[in-house]
Amino acid sequence: MPGEIDEIKARVDIIDLVSEYIRLKPAGTNNWRALCPFHNEKTPSFMVSRDKQIWHCFGCGEGGDIFSFVQKIENLEFPEALRLLAQKAGVTLKAVDPQLTSQKNRLFDICQLAANFWHKVLTESPAGKNALVYLKNRGLTEQTISDFKIGYAPESWDTLVKFLKSRDFKDQEIFLAGLSVKKERGTDFYDRFRDRIMFPINDAHGNPIGFSGRLLTEKPEAGGKYINTPQTLIYNKSLVLFNLDKAKPEIKNKDLAIIVEGQMDVVSVWQAKTLNVIAMSGTALTPDHLKILKRYTKNLAFCFDMDLAGESAARRGIDLALGEDLDIKIIVLPVGKDPDECVRHHPAEWLAAVTGAKSIMEYYFEKTFSRFDPKTVDGKKKSAAILLPLINRLGSKIEQTHWLSQLAEKIKVSEAILRETIPKIQRQKIDERKTAALVPSTDRDLMLGQRILAIALKYPLTISFLIDNLPPEIIINEALNQLYKQLIIYYTEDIKSTISDFNYQNFHLKLKLKQLKPQNLESLADRLVLAAEKDFFDFDFETVEDELFIAINFAKKNFYSAKLKRLEDQIKIAEKQGDANEVKNLLNQFNEVAAQLKLLE
Ligand code: UTP
Ligand code: MN
Repeated sequence: MPGEIDEIKARVDIIDLVSEYIRLKPAGTNNWRALCPFHNEKTPSFMVSRDKQIWHCFGCGEGGDIFSFVQKIENLEFPEALRLLAQKAGVTLKAVDPQLTSQKNRLFDICQLAANFWHKVLTESPAGKNALVYLKNRGLTEQTISDFKIGYAPESWDTLVKFLKSRDFKDQEIFLAGLSVKKERGTDFYDRFRDRIMFPINDAHGNPIGFSGRLLTEKPEAGGKYINTPQTLIYNKSLVLFNLDKAKPEIKNKDLAIIVEGQMDVVSVWQAKTLNVIAMSGTALTPDHLKILKRYTKNLAFCFDMDLAGESAARRGIDLALGEDLDIKIIVLPVGKDPDECVRHHPAEWLAAVTGAKSIMEYYFEKTFSRFDPKTVDGKKKSAAILLPLINRLGSKIEQTHWLSQLAEKIKVSEAILRETIPKIQRQKIDERKTAALVPSTDRDLMLGQRILAIALKYPLTISFLIDNLPPEIIINEALNQLYKQLIIYYTEDIKSTISDFNYQNFHLKLKLKQLKPQNLESLADRLVLAAEKDFFDFDFETVEDELFIAINFAKKNFYSAKLKRLEDQIKIAEKQGDANEVKNLLNQFNEVAAQLKLLE
């Protein structure tokens, strides 16, 4: 196990891994930074280090290695993260440790097997022939069918359950994976998907976790046109986005995600080489979907069916997205009832529609004024009633102001009047958001101590100055104090005695070997260096020196003022008790500290 873990760590680069989830920007040569995926923030404090292979968020304090990152972002237990990363690394896990085959892993296995099974039925067996003909008639190529691993669940009550049981999966597990249904009476289970074209729904790494099944032959008793895997341990429709696994790179490339309504739309659009396309599956867009999408891009283009149902679905998703400070566009189809029809018969029009996507407000303005005449009183009132709430919902003040003045212009009503009409809910919303984004303020002393040591470790040329100017007791936090003392020991014993240069790797190793309490000092040191790399990566050495000088000064001032305050209290007590000797002694100390403080002013 430990061998496997090390091997995986050696093969999976943390930068590559993290960039699969969020957009990283280089910060210096070895580090990348980003908005933290684990808390709400406006300025990036999430750092990833290539040489240390660690991540850390200086906003929320979370951090760790590739395993903890995957666990946290995917909400997985260790065994599942191990499995996922092993796959990525191409490392075969020897572990037959039952603890490592968690229940979730069993469900992943079942879905994988089912996807392969149904795909084989579709592409290789006589039972799948009709379905294959149907898909080819709808214009899908063999390549696309295999890219999406589309399958066919035959018209039968037990084909899949039987197959999975022959692979040693239990009825109960198959049921938990969402692939079977319990008979109303008795304890038997039967296949949930029958006579359906099966679209595997993958997690962000391409592992199937659920399915959407489209009915092949229309018949009254068949149920909905599409049925989907219910909520399971591994499938949550409010989190999953169909095709995100394949669309991810292109969404990042184009800095745009195209959101369509159905599986078939995604598949057709993808086949036509528009690769940054995704869909929800049997649900409207949720805040969680938006959160996931935001990791890859801030630009969303919605293209929903041109019918009423499509519009209201779009409207709900858009309403949500508007408040999120996302840039939202609408792709208006010139022909066809949905993207699938449009792209299949009029690929050029599709491409033009994508390029010509309208900003959401532009779209709403056009739509509104195609219905209402801005010159009539009635038209003014009605269009303002539709557009003002939308403007109000925009996440950006600048955008709000822009559209407000557009509206004022259009209906010839002053901006001031329009503003008065806007409900007052906006204020409150912003305040709430601000509070949510607030990170608990760090204790001043702690912050200074961190800053000082961060600079020293990152810029070893400052260490001798630091040691000469800052007695260890001034760093109050216990872990930082320990680390500083270790640094002093290392510096004076190892460096000065051998007249060599400070070597961080070497220092790190020594710390590790000593196994000092109260916490892993070596990982504390790593985090501090990363903090320095985050804050100072574009500073020159002189500026850094200034920063250190200022921080040392502040730390000392804080320390001595606190000490002065304590001495004052002690003197008062001693006076009360009439202990003249003690008073004299304390007064001496007081004067000494006061003098030191004065030197710092
Ligand atoms: P549509 O009814 O628009 O189907 O549903 P479609 O995408 O055009 O499919 P084709 O072209 O007829 O094959 C759009 C999406 O809504 C969900 C599915 O995810 C579907 O892809 N849906 C639809 C359901 O979940 N259940 C249903 O009964 C219908
Ligand atoms: Mn369709």
